[in-house]
Amino acid sequence: MTDSPKISKEEIGNYLNTKYLGRALLIADVLESTNLTAEAIADQSPEGLVVIAEQQTGGRGRNGRSWASPAERNLYCSIILKPDCAPEYVPQLAIVTAISIAEVLEQLSIDNIQIKWPNDIWLNMRKLCGILCSMSCIENCTEHAVVGIGININTTMQDLPAELSDKATSLRMHTGMCFNRSKVLAMVLNALEHDYEQWEKLHSLAPFQERWRKYDLLCNRTISAEHGRDIISGKVLGIENDGRLKLKTDNGIILISAGDAHIKSL
Ligand code: BTN
Repeated sequence: MTDSPKISKEEIGNYLNTKYLGRALLIADVLESTNLTAEAIADQSPEGLVVIAEQQTGGRGRNGRSWASPAERNLYCSIILKPDCAPEYVPQLAIVTAISIAEVLEQLSIDNIQIKWPNDIWLNMRKLCGILCSMSCIENCTEHAVVGIGININTTMQDLPAELSDKATSLRMHTGMCFNRSKVLAMVLNALEHDYEQWEKLHSLAPFQERWRKYDLLCNRTISAEHGRDIISGKVLGIENDGRLKLKTDNGIILISAGDAHIKSL
């Protein structure tokens, strides 16, 4: 596809200004899942190595879902990180990554970017980007984390599976233009390295709260979410510094650790 040239090391290098994120790259035409490959090689790899695929045959989404990954249209990549923290802090990295990506999209003049807790990026109420974070730990030490990023970039409506046609979007579907995927990746890595280093100082989202609020799709909305075995409803007040969603319910404030939030009303 000439309007979406292949991702290349050279082109990424033209835009990359990081110290270590993306300085080692593994680019494949087809992988089952970049997260799977990154997890398999993480122990022997330097921090910052990025696995990229032009196509995934078994792209993974959150909560056991799949991630549609047609060839040569979008960005499918997984970043190996080695944070110096206990495993319980690692899920915050997905939120930091979502904030970095939201700001990169704004730099690309994409308006109306929002983040749906915990880390989905939405554009005009359709999903544009998903993030899947996994980790490996020994006792209370994190060995490595893998941050998988899927951004729909040059996909068209025809490329989307029918069940996603009213749920997903891409930069191309939104703007009518094709984007340089190597450049978008380099911009994400530039932004993320900076934010990752800031996060490593405290392992807290406190320094990111203001930026989170700017993009928070759920704030002040009534949602339902899983809480243990229950489904609870409440009005979203924001996120805690550890990433939990803060809900005002009829029974007081409840903090949600993980799962999907379903919007009920404004
Ligand atoms: C979600 O469900 O929102 C998370 C989707 C994450 C998709 C990306 S694509 C690159 C990386 N490899 C995978 O198999 N999944 C992530």
